[in-house]
Amino acid sequence: MSHTQTKTHQLFNQAKQYIPYGVNSNFRYWGEEDTPIMARGAGAYVWDVDDNRFIDYRLGFGPIILGHAHPEVNRRVAAAIQDGVLFAATTPIEIELAERFTRMTGMDKVRLSNTGTEANMHALRIARAYTGREKFIKFEGNYHGNFDYVMFSGPTAKAELLGPRRQPHRLRATEGMPVAIRNYMIPLPYNDIELFERAMVEHGEELAAVVLEPIMGNVACILPDLAWLQRVRALCDEFGVVLIFDEVKTGFRLARGGAQEYFGVKADLAAYAKAMGNGFPVSAVAGRNEIMAMVEPGRVAHGGTYCGNVVAATAAAATLEIIETQPVIETIFANGRRLMEGIHTILTHVGVPHVVSGAPSMFSVLLGKDEAPTDYRSYSEFDADLFGRLGAALIERGILVDDDPREPWFLSYSHDAAVIDETLDLIENAASAVFGRSLQVRRLAA
Ligand SMILES: Cc1ncc(COP(=O)(O)O)c(C=O)c1O
Repeated sequence: MSHTQTKTHQLFNQAKQYIPYGVNSNFRYWGEEDTPIMARGAGAYVWDVDDNRFIDYRLGFGPIILGHAHPEVNRRVAAAIQDGVLFAATTPIEIELAERFTRMTGMDKVRLSNTGTEANMHALRIARAYTGREKFIKFEGNYHGNFDYVMFSGPTAKAELLGPRRQPHRLRATEGMPVAIRNYMIPLPYNDIELFERAMVEHGEELAAVVLEPIMGNVACILPDLAWLQRVRALCDEFGVVLIFDEVKTGFRLARGGAQEYFGVKADLAAYAKAMGNGFPVSAVAGRNEIMAMVEPGRVAHGGTYCGNVVAATAAAATLEIIETQPVIETIFANGRRLMEGIHTILTHVGVPHVVSGAPSMFSVLLGKDEAPTDYRSYSEFDADLFGRLGAALIERGILVDDDPREPWFLSYSHDAAVIDETLDLIENAASAVFGRSLQVRRLAA
């Protein structure tokens, strides 16, 4: 980074004395020189501790759907906490939230928790209890959180170790897990109808669930092939398998009703988090009546000290009300579409093969090929280092993206037309510097 980073480096060194790698999540470590330390955010912008300003396209890994420090959400949370935050009992705001949540998602019942990990963990448990079966299918490159059952063949797996397509290996994502846990999980490539059908014929009767990200939100926003998604739905019905959509990134971001509304395919259970609370820690598992009915005292455990706490429930109630009643999704899509098209024009002009994949509210920029990837294996054929160079140039110019192309660019309601214009000017400048072609692409193209 060419920004001043004096205070960042000083604080990072201090952080490392007490916190492994100086970060509270491994994904936040960007190396010794470049690990950011943020001071504040407002709308589409964040400022680091050296007061460098960035247009934020990371948005806390996706949750900030309305913009940082959204005044109305913050006002309601600040007002609510004056009367206490935790009672080990239901509060009225949880009921208000559940009513709006079920209306927006089309799910019958919902239980709250705090993280996407918890929501997926509960979904898998409920599916196992409902079916009386233990195994599940998970797709390569999909991420479902930081709990042992699902931490195989995820977005950090080395593609060259995934094994034969028809007989994929189960690659563990972390040390510290019991070896035998891998036997519960059957990995498959995303978007492959033939292999999915084969796996269902072979294992369908012993499967509790098929769990999937309806857009690959941790690998370059790879889109589902609709025919594949519909076939997954149909075969889950045929074999009595619970279809779990992990809507942690897509929920309330692709549409008010999430990926299920966007693609017109309904899940039996779904996990939600991120955009639901505009950055406040809140999540939910939701689903059909008969499946959620498994959650019953003495039968299927669901709970946690902080589930449905006043801060989380108030933030979510305020965020969902704004998403439901204002043109949040429409605005984000219009601006996101313009940004995706602008990036495509710039990269075409500088002559770099590329794909801008995903949906306007969450998309990825891939360099080195111009054929859209369909699964984790085809994603790995893109040039991540080349994107890393562009990403570094963008960050230098004040656009905060992950320099890893797997992580999406997220937009918020605060990324208005002026922010998009500013972004495109900076991208044009960065792309010209990195790829050595002339400036003012959009003006030339206009
Ligand atoms: C699709 C998906 N599922 C689950 C999770 C886990 O959510 P959390 O980090 O809130 O536990 C994530 C986090 O990025 C995610 O992207």
